[in-house]
Amino acid sequence: MDIWPIDEERRKRVHDRVRIERRRLVLDGPRWTRDYEGDFQRVTLPERDCNLLRDLVVAEGVETIVEIGLAYGSSALAIGEALVSVPRKRPLHVIIDPLQETTWSNVGWELIRSSGLDATSRLVLQPSSQALAGLVEQGFTADAAFVDGSHRFHEVFTDLYFLRKIVRPGGIVVLDDYWWPSVRTAIHYFESNMGWLVMPDVFDGGTTDPATGAGRLRALRLPDPSFEPSFDDFRPF
Ligand SMILES: C[S@@+](CC[C@H](N)C(=O)[O-])C[C@H]1O[C@@H](n2cnc3c(N)ncnc32)[C@H](O)[C@@H]1O
Repeated sequence: MDIWPIDEERRKRVHDRVRIERRRLVLDGPRWTRDYEGDFQRVTLPERDCNLLRDLVVAEGVETIVEIGLAYGSSALAIGEALVSVPRKRPLHVIIDPLQETTWSNVGWELIRSSGLDATSRLVLQPSSQALAGLVEQGFTADAAFVDGSHRFHEVFTDLYFLRKIVRPGGIVVLDDYWWPSVRTAIHYFESNMGWLVMPDVFDGGTTDPATGAGRLRALRLPDPSFEPSFDDFRPF
C-alpha cells in the first residue's frame, strides 16, 4: 500500500484522533493489560515524558523515526502525534517489537491503527538486533530514534551500534530508562567514544528517580560529520 501523500485533511483528522486516543489511554488505560498489578503504569512511558518526547520530535523537524519497544503504545502514540502535527512530505515511524502480537496481545498496535497512524507507521515483529541489521542492509536512514526495548546491556549497546548507521549525522537518539545501570552504561560508550552529545534541558520537567534525582529520558545528538574512531583512541567509560 502506498501511504503517500498524506493529504492535509487526513493529516488533521488523524492528528485529532491521536490526541483523543492518548487522553483516553491516560484516563482509562488500555483495553487489555498483562495480569500483573499496575502493569500499565509500570511499563508504559508516563504522559508528561510522552509530551516532552513529542515536543522534541516536533522541534527537531523529524520526518522519519525508528522506535524500539511498543508494548502499550504510549510513546508510539506520542511520536505518531508529533509526525502528523505539522505537514511533512513523507512521515514514517518504524516500530520494532518482537513480542507485540504475543506478550502484548497487539494492544499497542491496535491503538496505532485505531488512531489512523497505521498510514505513517510500520510494525516490525523482530528483535531489534535483527530488525535494525535489516534496515542497515536496505540502506534505510532516519532523522531520529527512540529506544525503549530490551534493557539488557548488550542489547541496548547493539541497538545503539546499529542506530549509529541508521540515524543521519546530526540526528538524535532518545533513550528511556537512563536511570538503569545497564542502559546508562551502554549510552556512556557512545558519549565518551563516539562523539554523541547530550542535549541538555530538553527533558526538564520529566520523570525523575525519587532516590537519585536522575531523569529517565536522555537525548543525544549524533556528530556531524560522523566519524570512525581508531581503536587506540579508546576511552574507558
Ligand atoms: C518498557 S516496554 C516499552 C514501553 C513503551 N514505550 C510504552 O510506552 O508503552 C519494552 C518493550 O520492549 C520490547 N522488547 C523486548 N525485547 C526486545 C528486543 N530484543 N527488540 C525489540 N523490542 C524488545 C518488549 O516486548 C516491550 O514491548
